[in-house]
Order: sequence, then structure tokens, then C-alpha cells
Amino acid sequence: MPSAARGFTLYGDVPGAAAPSGLVGVSHSAVDLPTGRIELVHPRDALEQIYEQNFGWGGTEPPYWAQPWPSGIELADAVARADLSGARVLELGCGLALPSLAAAQGGARVLATDRAPGALAFAAHNARRNGLRLEVAQCDWSDPWSAIAGAPWDLVLAADVLYLHDGLDALDALLPRLVLGSGEVWLSDQGRPPARDFLARCERWSTVSTTGTDHPEVSLHRLRRHAVTTCDPVPALVNGRS
Ligand SMILES: C[S@@+](CC[C@H](N)C(=O)[O-])C[C@H]1O[C@@H](n2cnc3c(N)ncnc32)[C@H](O)[C@@H]1O
Repeated sequence: MPSAARGFTLYGDVPGAAAPSGLVGVSHSAVDLPTGRIELVHPRDALEQIYEQNFGWGGTEPPYWAQPWPSGIELADAVARADLSGARVLELGCGLALPSLAAAQGGARVLATDRAPGALAFAAHNARRNGLRLEVAQCDWSDPWSAIAGAPWDLVLAADVLYLHDGLDALDALLPRLVLGSGEVWLSDQGRPPARDFLARCERWSTVSTTGTDHPEVSLHRLRRHAVTTCDPVPALVNGRS
């Protein structure tokens, strides 16, 4: 990890990046978006490797970042259809960061974050491969200072992050701190069980508009903050700081 700028860690190249997660081999994919084609390098057959090697048996999360999920592809498509030229964009739980790459391709200034260092290495590598400028930073929602330091953001993105109940309290506390006024949060979700309750909780601080996507199981939820009142219902961060 050679250098850091403005508190954001800049990650090195991909070789070896997947190794700490135990994944072996890489493959190449391409995704065609309204802003152009994005070429992706990513760990090979990540889900098969996760199942075959019984990843996560010790309570650690399997490297779900290593797979290009349908929610990420659909969110990237929605991002590529928006006018984001000059916008400041943050992605949470970015994995391979396809929505971030689409935003960068559309002229946005983008910070892609995840708690998994392997995800950030692939995101940074794929940005370089596609000639796109992308900042990356390690950010766990329970210690989200790189995300908060840049707030308010014009747009906050997160694809397929509502799959575990664990961690969603931290996300619930974080999201309202990231946008103001016309800023929006776009969450894409593949009908994961925790999503409905999570989105209902978000209605405390935001208006949620939901639309379908080209993928039959993936929905896009656009959240815009209510006007801040004297009784702002933003919950405390899970680590106790506010
Ligand atoms: C199912 S993957 C989705 C990856 C990517 N967004 C996509 O759609 O292809 C979930 C991602 O959320 C990240 N994640 C899960 N819990 C997190 C947390 N507490 N803080 C930060 N990232 C988290 C994981 O590391 C992983 O990259």
C-alpha cells in the first residue's frame, strides 16, 4: 500500500490482492453501459470458491466483494443514465465498484469504499485499466470516518449491501449523515430479506422512491432526506460517537 492522499489509502496493483482472501485466479468480464464499455478483472468463480472452500466457517464474512452482483450491474446502469458530470459521489460496500466506475465514466469525482482490502485493490486496478480516475478508501460502516469526512455528498451509492441484519444498524446511522438538501442515496437490492425492514427504517429521515430494473429481481431505491427539523431523528453512530 504505497501511498495515501487526504486520508484515503491508495491501493497497489491486483497481483496477490485476492490471495489474503484465499481466492485463486482471475477472470475478465465486460459490461456495456450508456456511458461506454467497462472492462473488469475479478477473482475467478468467486462464489464457487466460496462454497467449495467453506469460506466464513469461523464467523468471518466470505469474500462476497469478489463477484459482480446483479444489483451492482443494475445500479451501474442507472448511474450511467444520470447526469453526474462534476458531481461528488461516494460508494459504500463497493466490491468491484462497477457503479463507481460508471459514475467516473460519466464525469463524477468518486470515492469507492469497502471494508475488504481485496475489493479496493480490484476497484483501483479496474479504474486504471479503464482510464478512469477513482479514489478508494477502506471504510467499515461501524467506523466510517473516510465517508463522513467528505460529506455532504451529491450522491451515495450502495449495491447489494442489505443481505445481513448484522451491520445494518451502523448503515442506518451512517446514511443520514452523508447527504443534505438535494443529495440522494441510491440503494439497489435483489430482494434480500433484511431490505424491507431497513428501508422502512430509512423513512424516518428520508423519502424512499422504488423502481424496478431490467433484472427481474433487482429494485432501485432512491432516498432523499426530509427537511431537517428541530427533532432530527438521526440515530447515534454504532460506535457511540455522533
Ligand atoms: C454482496 S457484496 C456486493 C458488492 C458490490 N456492491 C456489488 O453489488 O457487486 C457486499 C459488499 O458489502 C461489503 N460490506 C459488508 N458489510 C460491510 C461493512 N460493515 N462495512 C463496509 N462494507 C461492508 C462487503 O465487503 C462486500 O463488498
